Amino acid sequence: MPARHPSGGPRVSTDPERAAAALIAGSLVALPTETVYGLAAVASDRTAVARVFEVKRRPADHPLIVHVDSLASARQWVLAFPEPAAALARRYWPGPLTLVLPRAPWVPDEVTGGQPTVALRVPDHPLTARVLELVGEGLAGPCGVVAPSANAFGRVSPTSAADVMASLGGRLGPADLILDGGDCRVGLESTIVDASGGELRVLRPGAVLVDSATGQPGDGEVAVLPRVPGSHSAHYAPAAEVVIASGEELLAASASPIPEDLGTGLLAPVGIETPVGWIRLASPTDDVEFAAVLYRGLRAADDAGLHRIVVVPPTTGGLLPAILDRLRRAAR
Ligand code: TXA
Ligand code: MG
Repeated sequence: MPARHPSGGPRVSTDPERAAAALIAGSLVALPTETVYGLAAVASDRTAVARVFEVKRRPADHPLIVHVDSLASARQWVLAFPEPAAALARRYWPGPLTLVLPRAPWVPDEVTGGQPTVALRVPDHPLTARVLELVGEGLAGPCGVVAPSANAFGRVSPTSAADVMASLGGRLGPADLILDGGDCRVGLESTIVDASGGELRVLRPGAVLVDSATGQPGDGEVAVLPRVPGSHSAHYAPAAEVVIASGEELLAASASPIPEDLGTGLLAPVGIETPVGWIRLASPTDDVEFAAVLYRGLRAADDAGLHRIVVVPPTTGGLLPAILDRLRRAAR
């Protein structure tokens, strides 16, 4: 565990005015969104953005998502907003969709990792919507805050204020803030669609299902392998080993229990029984609930000191591509 900040950790608040004031003053604020909590800094504040990288221990060339309050604000960050992307934005914003577009020339390299594109999203959470509005009123120029997931680089994203405190509390100072907006509704990071070329390409599957070829709602399949940090091995990973199993494989394991199997957690759909000696982490009823409890379950296993987490994914539902994507990365 990193040493605590010498003058104490971040404050926790439910007040968007306080969060906006902290951001405007150059501090970092963990913001709730419908997907996961983000570690926010004003995008035009180079010192604050540099601190986001430092606190997360994130490599400098990994670009950040700029969070804005509206499609109109998003347009200020880009050279062009091609119509297929604008159609997606109109349909899904505010919501769990990030669009990668050609960046406006003034957008800082720190935000884009030096890439010619910028990633933009309008999050769907009332507290954070208010923060973005207030930051826009308080600062001159295009408003926006960068917000990577508020976890140490490569680890599991936080879906509650307590998760943020556990992940980064020791690295944040007393002027920083965690805005407590409750548990995240979706629980998995946004769908990322690259709209900077001629056609749309899904870079990271999420709750918004986009067909890469048509830009229309689709099955959420990822058409290309992303060149983004989320594609690194051991990303979204807890300390415990993650093993993906089918319901049948689990039945076989139950039939011949291994005595030294203590310290194994199970995250599986309701109706699947827990082998003797294993610790049940969650029993979601469908893909939506599975997504919402997945990261919480992985964290709970680490908190309990389990050495292995067996996960039986759901077999149907629109969130399946995103769930399998995150599980495959966690299991590496
Ligand atoms: O749901 C989310 O998207 C959350 C919440 C907080 O909004 N944010 C999030 O941020 O997941 P982060 O930094 O953990 O993941 C952002 C992903 C990274 O994989 C990054 O490489 C990719 O977005 N990204 C950002 N800018 C990009 C760009 N210009 N081109 C391609 N990928 C980009
Ligand atoms: Mg992340």
